[in-house]
Amino acid sequence: MKFKSIRDAGELFGKKVLLRLDLNVSLKDGAVFDDFRIKGSLPTLNYLKDADAKIIILSHLGEGGTETLRPVADYLKVSLLPIKIDVSLKDRVAHMQNGEVIILENLRQDKREVVNDPEFAKELASLGDIYVNDAFSVSHRNHTSIVALPKLLPHYAGFLLQSEVENLSKLFNPDHPFLFILGGAKFETKINLVKKFLDIADKIFIGGALSNTIFKKMGYETGVSLVDEKEMNLDFVLNNKKIVLPMDVTVRDAMGDSVKLPDQVLKNENILDMGPESLEATKKMIDDAKYILWNGPMGNFEKGLKQITEDLATHLSKSGAKTIVGGGDTLTAIRDLDLVDKFTFTSSGGGAMLDFLVNGTLPGIEALTF
Ligand code: 3PG
Repeated sequence: MKFKSIRDAGELFGKKVLLRLDLNVSLKDGAVFDDFRIKGSLPTLNYLKDADAKIIILSHLGEGGTETLRPVADYLKVSLLPIKIDVSLKDRVAHMQNGEVIILENLRQDKREVVNDPEFAKELASLGDIYVNDAFSVSHRNHTSIVALPKLLPHYAGFLLQSEVENLSKLFNPDHPFLFILGGAKFETKINLVKKFLDIADKIFIGGALSNTIFKKMGYETGVSLVDEKEMNLDFVLNNKKIVLPMDVTVRDAMGDSVKLPDQVLKNENILDMGPESLEATKKMIDDAKYILWNGPMGNFEKGLKQITEDLATHLSKSGAKTIVGGGDTLTAIRDLDLVDKFTFTSSGGGAMLDFLVNGTLPGIEALTF
C-alpha cells in the first residue's frame, strides 16, 4: 500500500496528533461491554504516548450521534491507560500536556461528520499538527474525519489499520486449498464478495440466510424464512461447482424446531440455521483446507440458534490452517466463546472488511495515499 506508517512521522514529541479510532463498541448498562476494538487501538495509542505526543482521539459511537463516548473514556482510563484522559471540549486542546490523551465527544453529534464536509474538516484540522487513521472498521465510510480531514494535514496509518490491510491482503493470494465460509443475512451486501472470491477460493460454503435466498432461486419452498427479495442474478452461484450449500436445515414451526432437507421445507416453516450434517461437512472442509476465511453466522442468533455457529467457531479455532475471521455477529460468537486470540487474524471490520475484500482498498485508505 502507498500510505505512510506512523513510524514515518518523525519526531512526535509535543506534536498534536489527531488520532481517528473506531471506538464504536457495544455498551451494556452504560459501560463498555466489548473491548475488542479498544484493545486493537492500544499499540498506536501507546506508541504516541511513549513519544510524548499530545493525543486527541476522534471517534463516533452509534449511528445517530446521540450517544456519548464518556463510558469509553472511563474504560480506557481505568482499564488500559494509566493516564489522564477524558471526553473534553475542543478548547482543552490548547492547554494539553505532552503525553496527555483527550477524546473529543462523538463526532456524529455534528451532522457534518457523515457528509464529508470541508468546513468541518478544517475545524478539526485546526486542532492538530498531524493526522493518524487507526480506524480501519469505519474507513469504508466517506465521512469527514476519514476522507476530508487527512487531506489537510500530514497523514499516517496507525498500527491496527496497517495490520488489517496487511492480513486481509493475504487473502488475495492465499495458500491452497482455500476455503471461504460465508454466512449472514443480506445477499445483496455479499454478492460482489462471492463473485470476487470465486476466482480465488477453491470452495465457498454459503450458509446463514444467504443460503435461503439461493434455495428460493433454485425453486425450493422456503416458507416464512428470511430471504433477500432484492432483484439479483444469482445464476453464477447456482451453476458453480465451487459453491457448497447446506445439505440440511433447521426449521421452526409452531410445534418447535426440526431438521430437514432443504427441498422439504413447508410453507409455514422458518429456516433458522443449517443442520448437523452440514456442520459435519463444513468441519471436514475445514480439516482439508490450508487457508480459511470466515465471515457471517450460520444461525439466527436473535432467535436462539447459536450452537452450530459456535461449534463451527470452536472447530475452526483448532484448525491447523491459517484462519481469518471477521464480521459483527461472527465476532460476537467468538468473543462469547473466548476464542478471539485463537485465529491467525481477527478483523475489527464488519462492512469495512467486506468492502476491502471486494475492492482491495477503502475510501479512508485512499485518503491516506495523497
Ligand atoms: C462499525 O461498527 O461497523 C463501524 O463503527 C462503522 O459504523 P457505521 O456502520 O455506523 O458507519
